[in-house]
Amino acid sequence: MEYKSLLLTKENGLGIVTINRPDVLNARNNELSNEMYDMFTAIENDPEIRVVILTGTGKSFIAGADIREIMELGSVQVEAFLIMARRARDRIYGCKQPVIAAINGFCLGGGLEVALCCDLRIASETATFGLPEINLGIIPAGGGIARLVKLIGMARAKEMIFTGDTCDSQAALKMGFLNQVVPSGKLMDEAKAMAARLLSKSSIALNYAKKSCNSGVDMSLAAATDMDENYFCRCFASEDQKEGMQAFVEKRKANFKNR
Ligand code: COA
Repeated sequence: MEYKSLLLTKENGLGIVTINRPDVLNARNNELSNEMYDMFTAIENDPEIRVVILTGTGKSFIAGADIREIMELGSVQVEAFLIMARRARDRIYGCKQPVIAAINGFCLGGGLEVALCCDLRIASETATFGLPEINLGIIPAGGGIARLVKLIGMARAKEMIFTGDTCDSQAALKMGFLNQVVPSGKLMDEAKAMAARLLSKSSIALNYAKKSCNSGVDMSLAAATDMDENYFCRCFASEDQKEGMQAFVEKRKANFKNR
């Protein structure tokens, strides 16, 4: 696929995906959702990429759904828009590699919902967060309710959803939405430093850990533990498990080969 709104660069096992619609602060239209779905499908099948960073150009991560594109739609057409957006989000959430959101600016509405699908969220200190849908006479239907309630709890999620108020990075960190806040000029350096830490691990174990976290959250404790045990046993089929434990007894750093 030829991408109009996404850029991909690769360096030493890291894939950096940049959302690139700066004229509209990276608002997410149907075409962008389609491209995200396609790119993350390609990434999952790319052996050269073991960790992904998702970021945006300019002063925005994603400023929500493209309001101009959806404002005149009927309910049937808007449902088609939602289906495409959901496919893209689910593709990011389900992609086997860890995905780090490097949030460089506005992270609003559908953009916050995309960030919720990433595994780790690092933001520059000047980023802005919120679910302004209520101010447009709509609700955040792309996980902004379902996923956010699970991540930060009912009371804080309801406050964001009902008021549509925005908050800064420190507030988003405090409420448990973010993993880290960093100086704005350091965002990509810090995101890459986190990526490098993940790249030093066994990608096999990391992929299983991601699957276990994402699937287990919707299961009973017993079912989730059964699944975790299954992945634990599968790790023992890898060279990386042998290397990790051998390195421990030899008191050296493990050199994982991701196989
Ligand atoms: N959809 C479509 N266009 C958008 C957009 C969106 N979600 N967010 C920003 N844009 C466009 C603006 O319309 C403007 O285009 P124009 O220059 O042709 O008028 C351009 O991006 C720059 O935005 P602007 O509002 O001038 O920038 P700002 O710095 O003054 O304000 C925001 C930034 C993010 C606070 C403001 O753009 C905003 O509130 N956006 C909508 C956020 C939202 O409600 N998201 C949820 C959608 S469901």
